Amino acid sequence: FSDFLTDTFSRQHDYLRISVTERCNLRCLYCMPEEGIQLSPSKELLTSAEIFYLSQLFVNQGVSKIRLTGGEPTVRKDIVPLMQRIGSLRSAGLKELALTTNGITLHRKLDAMVEAGLTGVNISLDTLDRFQFQILTRRSGFDAVMKSIQRVQELNRLGAGIKLKINCVVMRGLNDHQILPFVDMTREQDVEVRFIEYMPFDGNKWSENKMLPYADMLNVIRSKYPDISRLKGARNDTSKTWQVPGFTGRVGFITSMTHNFCGTCNRLRITSDGNLKVCLHGDDEVSLRDLLRSDNDGTPMDEEAFEAVRQLELDRRKHGVLRQDGWISKELQLLEVIGSA
Ligand code: GTP
Ligand code: 5AD
Ligand code: SF4
Repeated sequence: FSDFLTDTFSRQHDYLRISVTERCNLRCLYCMPEEGIQLSPSKELLTSAEIFYLSQLFVNQGVSKIRLTGGEPTVRKDIVPLMQRIGSLRSAGLKELALTTNGITLHRKLDAMVEAGLTGVNISLDTLDRFQFQILTRRSGFDAVMKSIQRVQELNRLGAGIKLKINCVVMRGLNDHQILPFVDMTREQDVEVRFIEYMPFDGNKWSENKMLPYADMLNVIRSKYPDISRLKGARNDTSKTWQVPGFTGRVGFITSMTHNFCGTCNRLRITSDGNLKVCLHGDDEVSLRDLLRSDNDGTPMDEEAFEAVRQLELDRRKHGVLRQDGWISKELQLLEVIGSA
């Protein structure tokens, strides 16, 4: 494993998340305003050739999992050819190629993506109620998302082996009544439903009383399924996995607000305009795009890129500091200290 990608805490950064577009075809209340976001000029965004070049560079240094994200990655016109190119890195050591998507157009592109080497899909879906979907996303498309989920499952029945997860951001008073219907889904279906603690982002109208902590979500589930039990997770998992005994699927929790998992986080991120970040919450970024486009200074690109990883590695610790500085409330910190769930 390349030393470049192993930091001073011996974390091996072998998981790269690449945002392939800022655009999205939904307007989820907690993510985007109705009018959308200010888009960057296209010349500032990475081209497919650049995304492939960077993927190759990181895979050659030991990255074994790449996840494409957005915005909504499927709105990028050349998403399928891009995945075909990245999928070819299997021979260079890439083991997993995953996609995080809202599932609106996935059903149309899924077969070609699987052919290209797609191994996992995380679909964002915050409600199983068609009418509420329209309120939470400010768009229609519930049936299309369900069609995508079904298509993944059909391909799996034919032996495709695609890891399927559903991401559900839980907001108190809005969709917390959907927790049990989602858990019920795991009775027969081979899917992992992950409940995500609602996180504050710039201007997303977050408020602490809308955030339902892990312990509370678990209590809701235990009211119907008292014997739900925790499964052992992998070292770098950001989610905690549980299962109702006898059910086919699993239930996960992403507890970004109440449990700090930075210590085992192994992700590197590249934004759609080519900035490398190590932490979702940090501001520190290095432009790989600029390094790539001005690559005439004699220093090989790979050395420059990995120097950037080194520079950024401490950023993750700042996330921990932010939390101590009151980014989350005293009660939540207390909950974390007692480790109540
Ligand atoms: P897996 O590879 O399936 O584990 O995917 P993932 O959970 O890393 O990715 P996904 O795109 O499905 O994101 C799910 C949630 O995890 C989102 O709410 C992200 O904001 C959150 N998340 C992803 N990476 C991090 C991280 O490094 N730190 C924190 N705090 N949250 C993260
Ligand atoms: N809090 C928690 N999760 C969020 N996501 C987007 N915004 C937030 C937020 N404020 C989730 C989406 C998607 C994943 C990539 O991030 O629902 O599933
Ligand atoms: Fe944001 Fe994802 Fe919803 Fe699009 S689908 S608005 S990117 S959370």
